[in-house]
Amino acid sequence: MGRFLVYLRSTVLLFFTYFNICLITADIPAAPVNVTVRHLQANSAVVSWEVADGDAVIGYAISQQKKDVRMLRLIQEVNTTSRSCVLWDLEENTEYIVHVQSIGLSGVSPVSDPITFRTPKEAEKSASKGNSGPMCFNRKA
Ligand SMILES: *[C@@H]1O[C@H](CO)[C@@H](O)[C@H](O)[C@H]1NC(C)=O
Ligand SMILES: *[C@@H]1O[C@H](CO)[C@@H](O)[C@H](O)[C@H]1NC(C)=O
Repeated sequence: MGRFLVYLRSTVLLFFTYFNICLITADIPAAPVNVTVRHLQANSAVVSWEVADGDAVIGYAISQQKKDVRMLRLIQEVNTTSRSCVLWDLEENTEYIVHVQSIGLSGVSPVSDPITFRTPKEAEKSASKGNSGPMCFNRKA
């Protein structure tokens, strides 16, 4: 009986140790992968990405930077399952660098690999009304 209790205790201890480690690492998601840019236009683009299965992701943060310009625009959205986001108000014929991060319950993931793209000139733009705000949607919908 005594031996059994000792055995049980160390098992429980091991279990909790393991559980704690899991909790600490599980809530900070891995960096998003497969970041791509679609619907590239003179003034807007849609950036989308994928998140590893099992990561508890509650939102995302996108940093958008004009190449060679030290100014960063940060788009952050929580409580969403979106895996894509419209970047609006872009300048034509300009190179941009975009990173995506997943937001988990207790932390933000490392940044994804950067994606670089260049907006076309205005003349190449297809007829469309300019969007004036963020429009994010779930790609799976
Ligand atoms: C990323 O893309 C690769 C190749 O298309 C695919 O095999 C992989 O499953 C994707 N990753 C995720 C997390 O969806
Ligand atoms: C998160 O989303 C749920 C479901 O759409 C909503 O009921 C809740 O109010 C949202 N919470 C916040 C903080 O926006």
